[in-house]
Amino acid sequence: MLRRATGRDAATICVKLWPMKAEQQSIELAKGADASAIADLSRDVIEQGLGWSWTAPRVLKALRDDATNVIVARRHPGLDDVAGFAIMKYGDDTAHIVLFAVDAAYRRCGIGSALMSWLETTARTAGINTIALEARSGNHEARAFYKQNGFNEIGVRVSYYRGVEDAVRFEKSLLAEL
Ligand SMILES: CC(C)(COP(=O)(O)OP(=O)(O)OC[C@H]1O[C@@H](n2cnc3c(N)ncnc32)[C@H](O)[C@@H]1OP(=O)(O)O)[C@@H](O)C(=O)NCCC(=O)NCCS
Repeated sequence: MLRRATGRDAATICVKLWPMKAEQQSIELAKGADASAIADLSRDVIEQGLGWSWTAPRVLKALRDDATNVIVARRHPGLDDVAGFAIMKYGDDTAHIVLFAVDAAYRRCGIGSALMSWLETTARTAGINTIALEARSGNHEARAFYKQNGFNEIGVRVSYYRGVEDAVRFEKSLLAEL
């Protein structure tokens, strides 16, 4: 039976898989060449069972949108090896995380938290008060991750995911940290 590594084991595995660990310089704005890798991750670990809507052309459109940040975590800066990504769209006071994922091979190494930290720092710099997002109600891993990163569950959107599944709404106030 597979067992999740803990403590020192987990740290060793993470350092091998992700030599940069949670350092901010390994997180950067995505390039056009990343669109296919991002789209494939969305299809495989976010949109499974819903139909693939975040195809490479849609990711490219988000990349070109002035009100949207598309960021990636790279295993090796300068190479096109995407280990995780996030897409966040800015409104006047609230920024909305549209997509967020880490490749299954690199999870529990702090990459998701590093992506989130980049988004929060950037949103705060842009004068944003709140970050909002939705997660599939059955996605208990993501719900645990967002809670661990300071998000509060604030409600449910019934049948939000193409009529197939409810969404749990999350928000995090950035003002509380001032
Ligand atoms: C949710 C997700 C982004 C987390 O990424 P990650 O890089 O593994 O997250 P981190 O390593 O930064 O985890 C930080 C903390 O969050 C919590 N957490 C993360 N994954 C968890 C899980 N599967 N179960 C319980 N808690 C979890 C833990 O407290 C963890 O700290 P720990 O490892 O020291 O216990 C990743 O599991 C993922 O991509 N899932 C599939 C796609 C998805 O659900 N996206 C979000 C919804 S759109």
